Amino acid sequence: MEQSAVPTEQTAVLITGCSSGIGLGLAARLAADPARRFKVFATMRDLAKGERLRERLGGGCPETLELLQLDVTDPRSLAAAARRVLGQRLDVLVCNAGVGLMGPLETCSEQAMRTVFEVNLFGAIRTIQAFLPAMKRRRAGRILVTGSVGGLQGVPFNSIYCASKFAVEGLCESLAVVLRPFNIHVTLVECGPVRTGFLQNLQRADPEGSELRGLDADTQRLYRRYLRHCRGLFRTAAWAAGASPSPAAEGTFGGLPACLRRVPAPGKDMPPLCRAGSCHDARGILVRHPPA
Ligand SMILES: NC(=O)c1ccc[n+]([C@@H]2O[C@H](COP(=O)([O-])OP(=O)(O)OC[C@H]3O[C@@H](n4cnc5c(N)ncnc54)[C@H](OP(=O)(O)O)[C@@H]3O)[C@@H](O)[C@H]2O)c1
Repeated sequence: MEQSAVPTEQTAVLITGCSSGIGLGLAARLAADPARRFKVFATMRDLAKGERLRERLGGGCPETLELLQLDVTDPRSLAAAARRVLGQRLDVLVCNAGVGLMGPLETCSEQAMRTVFEVNLFGAIRTIQAFLPAMKRRRAGRILVTGSVGGLQGVPFNSIYCASKFAVEGLCESLAVVLRPFNIHVTLVECGPVRTGFLQNLQRADPEGSELRGLDADTQRLYRRYLRHCRGLFRTAAWAAGASPSPAAEGTFGGLPACLRRVPAPGKDMPPLCRAGSCHDARGILVRHPPA
């Protein structure tokens, strides 16, 4: 039997991957909402990292915030988080946890490839499976999934990451249709570059390391060139997570304020990757709702 510990006037939001980046920015922003419109279940696999979120909120943990342990690759951890939340009403589920993997395909280890799919695809699937039944029973809800421009077009030297994000596109497109009669809305946020720790956190073949030894000279040269391009892209064209959102990004999260803000205005000289990321709304973020 579902309780309704979350006051009816509040929107209950559960977000995965809140230890850093977009998840942290979104959780902090919603929890600090001056009108206290949200109750945020900010989840992360290592609760010790919750300190950063608390610091962002001025050192405390407001009543609008609850930290929960959740590793999207661990069914027991998911079940425990679901038990904690499913006694209450959950309005919005944000599947944000993700990891990257960059490098020539020949250098991607079996384990690294599996981790990417375990977190980006199966992690999102498991999370949705855990919270969907209650949303269906209530015949209401919104599921937001952090996709990527890399789920729309293949980005060089990101083949495994892109494959996982392409798969997420299929997952969401299929679900969106089936869940419509249940009044559950699926939203894919297809981010272009956002300035977070993503680039530092991703698994990446070291251009000077042993992984590239034995690889042909042309691929090595192209990869090094791509890495330079990529660093420049994140320096100059990325959005910053956690800052004030643009009006467009406000709308992005279906009425929730987003944590994305474009830093420099998009210019004509923007690199192709960034242009692709901004093709729909020219603001570096692309949002897809199911067709009306
Ligand atoms: N930044 C970009 O340019 C960009 C562009 C397109 C899409 N995205 C997508 O945006 C999402 C957030 O990325 P970000 O930029 O904010 O990068 P980030 O700062 O590296 O954040 C990734 C988050 O995912 C969490 N995570 C990783 N494995 C997990 C697991 N097994 N269970 C639960 N959480 C896990 C990380 O937690 P730990 O601290 O425990 O590792 C971290 O909180 C990802 O899905 C990413 O693919 C980002």
